[in-house]
Amino acid sequence: MKLFTVGPVACYPQVLEAMGRQMVSHRSKEYKTLHTETVEMLQQFLGTNNEVFLFTSTGTGFMEASIRNCVNKKMLCCICGSFGKRYAEVATANGKQVETLEVPLGEPIMPDLLDKKLSKSKDVEAVSITHNETSMGLINPLKQLAEVVKSHGKMLFVDAVSSMGGTEIAVDKWGLDVCFSSSQKCFGVPPGLGMGSVSPDALKKSETAKDKGWYFDFKVWEKHQKKQGTPMTSVIPQIAGLNTIIKMIDANGGKKWFLSLYAERNRRIREGVRKLGLTMFPKSGYESPTVNCINSPDGIDGVTVYEQMREKGFELAKGYGTVQNFTFRIGNMGYIESSDIDSMLDALEVVLDELQLKS
Ligand SMILES: Cc1ncc(COP(=O)(O)O)c(C=O)c1O
Repeated sequence: MKLFTVGPVACYPQVLEAMGRQMVSHRSKEYKTLHTETVEMLQQFLGTNNEVFLFTSTGTGFMEASIRNCVNKKMLCCICGSFGKRYAEVATANGKQVETLEVPLGEPIMPDLLDKKLSKSKDVEAVSITHNETSMGLINPLKQLAEVVKSHGKMLFVDAVSSMGGTEIAVDKWGLDVCFSSSQKCFGVPPGLGMGSVSPDALKKSETAKDKGWYFDFKVWEKHQKKQGTPMTSVIPQIAGLNTIIKMIDANGGKKWFLSLYAERNRRIREGVRKLGLTMFPKSGYESPTVNCINSPDGIDGVTVYEQMREKGFELAKGYGTVQNFTFRIGNMGYIESSDIDSMLDALEVVLDELQLKS
């Protein structure tokens, strides 16, 4: 099966090979070297001097950590799809008051709207933004949104789960306090590792946070980072996989090369589906660089397109949540050969012809 999923995605063979190596202790010299090297490469990739932690959890663990360490009472969650909504749910479940800024599905969060909201909501301590809303295949204008958040002096949490490694993120320049992702997305590593950057302001806030627990306490992680390790057993195979893919990226021309590879795949898929007469779900200009969310043709269920593509050997992704029946998604993350894009688009043409004949 060829994967055009939205995560977990297919992994490069070199990543899988690195993950299959014999274990070392997470307190060994070998691990310390792997840990420090991976953290430093990720810092460079993200343009940051902030601490970068490697959590033994998926990205949602980092989401919860941002809230527990950096919000005492109240935060604002920007919602343009399912994962923005999840931030609000996690904050509520952790006993925080939540304000929301919600836009209609398919629309991005616009800076002027956020500016207005923050002018009225003076008491929120932090703002969460989903950089790339995987459920809608939509990217938000993060750099401009960050400017707004900083102009109001608020802390900024960025869910970059499906954008880190797939599009530009400049953590220090843009002033992102907590910015996290999951291994199983753009870097094409199996699930289980949540990686993210944490600013000095976020660490400061954590010093006085009440009821923040222990497992995701940023201050505990900071202490262990100084000893080139993690508080608990680290997810060594995934870290070895991440180390390998970043080295592969560097060997091939670095971040610029990797981001342009993804942009090119994304463009080819989008052009291909347009040639088949299909339209994109998100507002024009805000289509995701890693996940194309496509309107299924009139009268054809998106889930049926997904299922028929599986019959042809291609795993796409179903539409998510409330748009499931009239969209389907094609991811362009992870290990995808250039020729697979052509064969996937050929198969999609056949599937759509067959379904249109039946309808
Ligand atoms: C934008 C976004 N945020 C959060 C998550 C949750 O990530 P995880 O399953 O790694 O916790 C996902 C997963 O698809 C996502 O796409």
